Amino acid sequence: MINCAIIGLGAISGAHVEGYLAQGASCRITAMSDVREENITRIIDKYKLEAAKYTNYKDMLADKTINLVSICTPPGTHKMIAIDCLRAGKHVLVEKPMAPSLAECDEMIDEAKKAGKILSVVSQYRYTGQYYRLKKLLDANKAGKMLHIAVDALFWRGQPYYYLDWRGRWETEGGGCTLNHAVHFIDQLIWHAGMPKRVAAFMTNAAHDNSEVEDISEAILQYENGMLGRITSSLIHHGERQGISIQTDKGSIGVPFIPQSSKTLENGFPQDDPEQAELLRSEFESIELPPHQGHAGQIHDVIAAIEGRKSHYVTGTDGRNALELIQAIYKSAATNSVVELPLPTNDPFYHKDTMIAQMPVYHEKKVSVEAFKNNTIKVGGSEFVEKK
Ligand SMILES: NC(=O)c1ccc[n+]([C@@H]2O[C@H](COP(=O)([O-])OP(=O)(O)OC[C@H]3O[C@@H](n4cnc5c(N)ncnc54)[C@H](O)[C@@H]3O)[C@@H](O)[C@H]2O)c1
Repeated sequence: MINCAIIGLGAISGAHVEGYLAQGASCRITAMSDVREENITRIIDKYKLEAAKYTNYKDMLADKTINLVSICTPPGTHKMIAIDCLRAGKHVLVEKPMAPSLAECDEMIDEAKKAGKILSVVSQYRYTGQYYRLKKLLDANKAGKMLHIAVDALFWRGQPYYYLDWRGRWETEGGGCTLNHAVHFIDQLIWHAGMPKRVAAFMTNAAHDNSEVEDISEAILQYENGMLGRITSSLIHHGERQGISIQTDKGSIGVPFIPQSSKTLENGFPQDDPEQAELLRSEFESIELPPHQGHAGQIHDVIAAIEGRKSHYVTGTDGRNALELIQAIYKSAATNSVVELPLPTNDPFYHKDTMIAQMPVYHEKKVSVEAFKNNTIKVGGSEFVEKK
C-alpha cells in the first residue's frame, strides 16, 4: 500500500484525488497541505477523506510513512517543494509545467537521482484514449513515414483568468499559453516526433490586458532530417478545437482521430482512398486502452515504477524536454532569431532571471485576487477519453 500526499489543494488537486481513489487498494491519501487551510478542508469534505491537514508542507514531510507526494502548487514553487520532498525520501509527481526554467528542471532531476526516487511530471494526455492510441499506432509502424506534424494548443480564457495573483506574471507563472497550456501538446509533439533541431517563432498578447505574458504564439520547427512541424499556442480560440495532425505517406491521422488517405490520379491530383483510411481506423481502434486514463493513468504508472513493476511513467527528462522546446520558442520570438536546439547551459534562456530580462512585458498586471470563489476547471484532454 503506497501512502500518498498532496501539496496544493486548488483547481487541479481534484484530478489527483480522483486519480488516487481510482487505484483501489494499491494506495491511499493520508495527508494534505496547503497554505490556505480552507482549501484542504474543502477537498477533504468533498471526497470524504481521512487525511492529516498541514498548512506547512515541511511539517508534513516529517511523516516517514508518506511514500509519494503530488505537487499541485503554482509553477514558480515546483522546484523548491520537489527538492524538499525528494530530500525527505518521497517519490514526486509534479504538475506541469515542471518548472519555469531549465536550470530548475536540472536541479530537480539531479536531486531525484541523488535520492534514488521517482520524479514524474504530469502529462495526462499521454494516458488519454485517443492520444495513447495515436502513439501506439505510430510506434507499431502501422501509420507510415511521418512527413509533417502540427499541434493546435487552442484554448480560450476570459479576462478574469488573469486576476489570480500568480498568473500573468513572468516571475510566478513563468510564461503564458506556450508554457502553461501548450505544454501538454508540446509534450505530445516530442513524444511522437522527437526534439526538433531548429525553431522560428512569433508571439504577442492579443486580448488579455491584465497580463505581462503572451496569449498566442506560432512556432515553425525543423527536424534534423528536414521534416517541418508547427505549434500554435493560444488562449484566444473560441471553441478550443485542440488536437494533433500528422501527415504520413499513408494518410492523415491525429487527434481527433479522423483518418483520411489520398491516392494519386494519373496527373498527380488526389483521389480518396477509403480502404487505406479504413485500415488506419481499424488498426487504431484495435489498440488496447490503458487500465486508467488521464491523471489516474499516470498515477497508475508512477505506482508501478515505485513498486518496481513495468512502467512508462513520464520522467523528469520528459518534462525538461518540453520546457526546452518552450524556451526555444520564447527565445526565437523575443530575439527575432532562428534558435538551434539543444540550448546550452550558458544560454540566457537556460536561467529564469536572464530569460525574464529578455521577455516583453505586454501589460502591467493591475488586478490581483488570491483565490476565486468558484475554482472549478475543465481538465485538459478529458474529451478524448475513450470508452472501453
Ligand atoms: N494537468 C492539468 O491539466 C492542469 C490543469 C490546471 C492546472 N495545472 C497545474 O497545476 C498547478 C496548480 O494550478 P491550479 O490551477 O490548481 O492553481 P490554484 O491557484 O487553483 O491552486 C494552487 C494551490 O496551491 C496552494 N499553494 C501555493 N503555494 C503553496 C505552498 N508553498 N504550500 C502549500 N500550498 C501552496 C494555493 O493556496 C492553492 O490552493 C500549476 O502548475 C498548473 O499549471 C495542471
